[in-house]
Amino acid sequence: MDSFVIEGGRRLAGKLRINGSKNAALPLMAAALLTDEPVTLRDVPDLADIRNMLRLLAELGCHRVNEGDDRRVMTLHATDRSNSHARYDIVRTMRAGVCVLGPLLGRRGTCRVSMPGGCAIGDRPIDLHLRGMRALGAEVSMDAGDIVVTVPPGGLVGATIFLGGPFGSTVLGTANVMCAAAVARGRTVIESAACEPEVADLAALLVRMGARISGAGTPRITIDGVPQLGKADHTIMPDRIEAGTFLMAAAITNGDLVLDNCPTDTLLATIDRLNAIGVEVEPIEFLRPAGHPADPQRQAVRVTCGRVIRPVEVTTQPHPGFPTDLQAQLVALLTLADGNSVITERIFPDRFLHVAELTRMGAKIFRQGPTVIVSGVRELHGAPVMASDLRASACLVLAGMAAQGTTTVNRVYHLDRGYESMESRLRDVGARITRVSVKEGAGE
Ligand code: EPU
Repeated sequence: MDSFVIEGGRRLAGKLRINGSKNAALPLMAAALLTDEPVTLRDVPDLADIRNMLRLLAELGCHRVNEGDDRRVMTLHATDRSNSHARYDIVRTMRAGVCVLGPLLGRRGTCRVSMPGGCAIGDRPIDLHLRGMRALGAEVSMDAGDIVVTVPPGGLVGATIFLGGPFGSTVLGTANVMCAAAVARGRTVIESAACEPEVADLAALLVRMGARISGAGTPRITIDGVPQLGKADHTIMPDRIEAGTFLMAAAITNGDLVLDNCPTDTLLATIDRLNAIGVEVEPIEFLRPAGHPADPQRQAVRVTCGRVIRPVEVTTQPHPGFPTDLQAQLVALLTLADGNSVITERIFPDRFLHVAELTRMGAKIFRQGPTVIVSGVRELHGAPVMASDLRASACLVLAGMAAQGTTTVNRVYHLDRGYESMESRLRDVGARITRVSVKEGAGE
């Protein structure tokens, strides 16, 4: 099992390119199940979750057919519809496996998907996904830990579906309903749909495949079902959470970074809070290739931070609010603020695995329910730390880069699920990070 050893106190400076989005790529890959024709995705990140999704799709008869080419280009072709069972073994390693549910139901009329369990960040129910499937006419039952969904004779029929829950809408639930409704009979209206940009990216692919969808990216999505979908070629949106993580990495190291391919338009709440902290994020026009119009989804931006980190109040919210997937990284930054910050987590109220680990590094954090008060300290101290989720691990890497001395972040396979070659990319801009293999039981 690998760890990162980080020597803190180095300023980041240089240029990084933001990769294609993991959370967009996973449902986009699953959408290839909706057609018998090949679907090509570009700028696919090289991540453990993507490899797991490929494995799952292969079991479901949908294979990558361009092995050996550019590894960021992936052509998926669903040629065999005989197995529609997404097994526990795979879904338990990657909760996002649940996003095959809508495409399988839409194309094959029946499927069996292992019920995803909770995970380190909370319970993660899927009742809203199932509510959506039922509203389209599907029959849903449970058998041996699997969700069994079937379409009655006559097929799925469009409906008006309310997808709001106690914590807002559901991103993958909206993706599932949109995929199934794309090939249902008649019109579906999703009310209280997730507005996340990854939902809009999925809609863009589906439209390229022949679907009729409007309103994706807003709380009301309208889908007019079509009999079948066809081939498409689509470039995945840049990863807004990776971009936000690197913005904060620059800030916490008092650095000066240029991020290329940055989806600034999707990060307005994050940039607003960073500005309040004293971080400057400026688009760089001269890096735009001649003749290319300005694209706020793929900008070059320069991020700089003064020496004083000002405290702020932040509440995580569904998009366009401040994203839960950047909360842990923000807490790392605020541990060094000049005063008290208040952070409230409204999407996953228990997503605070990083708090105890940051405390081991000298942070002063007081948690009460879904809120933490972070009292800024003058410095953090290196320590061995570990977190059992992706974003909490990213938070610890940031803290390690700012801390005095050596930090060892254990079990970085969580990071590898969502950040491609994080250590070498940060090393390229001045961080001192090495990956070491640690035997299980030795030092963990
Ligand atoms: N919820 C329900 N019922 C449901 C579904 C969700 O009550 O049927 C609740 C959840 O418990 C949570 C809230 O609704 O409180 C939002 O959950 P959502 O369904 O939107 O989460 P998700 O679609 O499973 C995606 C991302 C997460 C990200 C969340 C919220 C992917 C693969 N995952 O999960 O990303 O935190 O949306 O934005 O897209 C990550 O990348 O680290 C990550 C966890």
